[in-house]
Amino acid sequence: MATLKDQVRAYWDAQSCGEVYAGDAGEDAALAAAAAMRYALEPYIRDFADFASGAGRDVLEIGVGMGADHAEWAKAGPRSLTGIDLTPRAIGYARRYLAAQGLTSRIQVGDAESLPFPDASFDIVYSWGVLHHSPDTPRAVREVHRVLRPGGVAKVMIYHSRSMTGYMLWLRYGLLAGKPFTRLAEIYARHLESPGTKAYSVAEARALFAPFAAVRVGVRLNHGDLLMGAVGQRHRGTLLSLAKALWPRHLIRALMPGHGLYLLIEARKAG
Ligand SMILES: C[S@@+](CC[C@H](N)C(=O)[O-])C[C@H]1O[C@@H](n2cnc3c(N)ncnc32)[C@H](O)[C@@H]1O
Repeated sequence: MATLKDQVRAYWDAQSCGEVYAGDAGEDAALAAAAAMRYALEPYIRDFADFASGAGRDVLEIGVGMGADHAEWAKAGPRSLTGIDLTPRAIGYARRYLAAQGLTSRIQVGDAESLPFPDASFDIVYSWGVLHHSPDTPRAVREVHRVLRPGGVAKVMIYHSRSMTGYMLWLRYGLLAGKPFTRLAEIYARHLESPGTKAYSVAEARALFAPFAAVRVGVRLNHGDLLMGAVGQRHRGTLLSLAKALWPRHLIRALMPGHGLYLLIEARKAG
């Protein structure tokens, strides 16, 4: 029987994250279009990642996906750049996207839960929307801590449990499906993205990153919470189209900024 890790790999190997924006994703132009759409929809990624901070550093990205952020790290002029992803599909895209721009990185298939690198190898470890998909997220976070040098920084986005996205999915797959007692955790695990996807409270995220010396956690509304763009790969339909037309984005931004799907975590390893 397929393990949860096998199911996660199969899910992301069937369609990489962001492929929905690429159209014919085999073409270099389509990969560039997907990246442009990413930063148009999610401009805060650049602020959080601070790609320029990679200049002259040893940088690792975990879960490169189609390689948009990885190319930005490469452009910053790191001393070395390394990228891993669980799926050959993502690795293929990322290699192609960087090569088309004349950028270089050591990109390879790998698992966040057992990073194939010695202790204290990197100054920065970056991972956007990945570690919550891995079955043993605490183990993946311990690996991030292990491969960072003393004083090194982890910049990680994982999902936040009390989010507009979660409430909408609960409405659709809980209440409207006649299962109002379904817990949000089950909704995320079964209906957001790959099977077993997890979401955390701010306190739980702090506990996950407890091995680090200094941890900052912020919450951010994303394009899914605001029903902008293609809103994930799994969800389509008339109800969603209607909700997109009527969604009170200004009110949500003003009144519910703490109910975003993204937890932005910056954690420094003791120096
Ligand atoms: C939502 S996508 C995010 C990709 C990219 N960071 C982005 O923002 O577009 C999740 C990615 O995590 C990868 N992934 C899931 N579990 C992983 C693991 N244990 N180790 C490495 N990559 C993993 C998947 O293959 C997929 O490419």
